[in-house]
Amino acid sequence: MKIKNKTFEIFISEKDIKAKTKELSEEIKDFYLDKKPIFFIILDGSFVFGADLFQKCKIKNSEVEFMKIKSYEGMNSTEELKIILKSDKEIQNRHIIIVEDIIDSGLTIDGVIKIFKKEKVKSIEVVSLLYKPDNYKYNHNIKWYGFSIPNDFVVGYGLDYDGFGRELNEIYKLK
Ligand code: IMP
Ligand code: MG
Repeated sequence: MKIKNKTFEIFISEKDIKAKTKELSEEIKDFYLDKKPIFFIILDGSFVFGADLFQKCKIKNSEVEFMKIKSYEGMNSTEELKIILKSDKEIQNRHIIIVEDIIDSGLTIDGVIKIFKKEKVKSIEVVSLLYKPDNYKYNHNIKWYGFSIPNDFVVGYGLDYDGFGRELNEIYKLK
């Protein structure tokens, strides 16, 4: 499969993604029960996983919000984090679930956690579909993740290469 000048091969099937998302949703639902959490979906990459997870969790009185962050240019993580869209939701005393597509160096999640820590929220947990432990440079606990993967560049299911490949039902890795 080609996107622009790069060739990708299948890595995680749609079936495996769906099964894992279901599994995560059950754990998250049990964890929050009647705590009325707010799911914060980190755009752009997490919009597909986030929607799927939020719907599968079906936690009573849970809410969903969005934050748009940019740290990647092409295939490289940049050092600096840009907040492109910030939610105006009142979040004091609320339970926050940060939803990420992938945790790579951890720069993005570190920045997002710092933003929420300033807001006097009740709790902050992280769920990410993918996690690259070999590249992770921070100490924040990633409470839930779907798949731990090597340092390959991946696309699909919301993740992009230079803006493309987000519509793919499966996850592909660079060949
Ligand atoms: P970090 O800040 O280095 O942890 O990178 C996190 C963000 O970079 C993710 O939210 C993704 O948007 C993007 N990213 C990291 N690795 C990949 C990848 O393999 N494919 C596509 N996007 C990635
Ligand atoms: Mg992202």
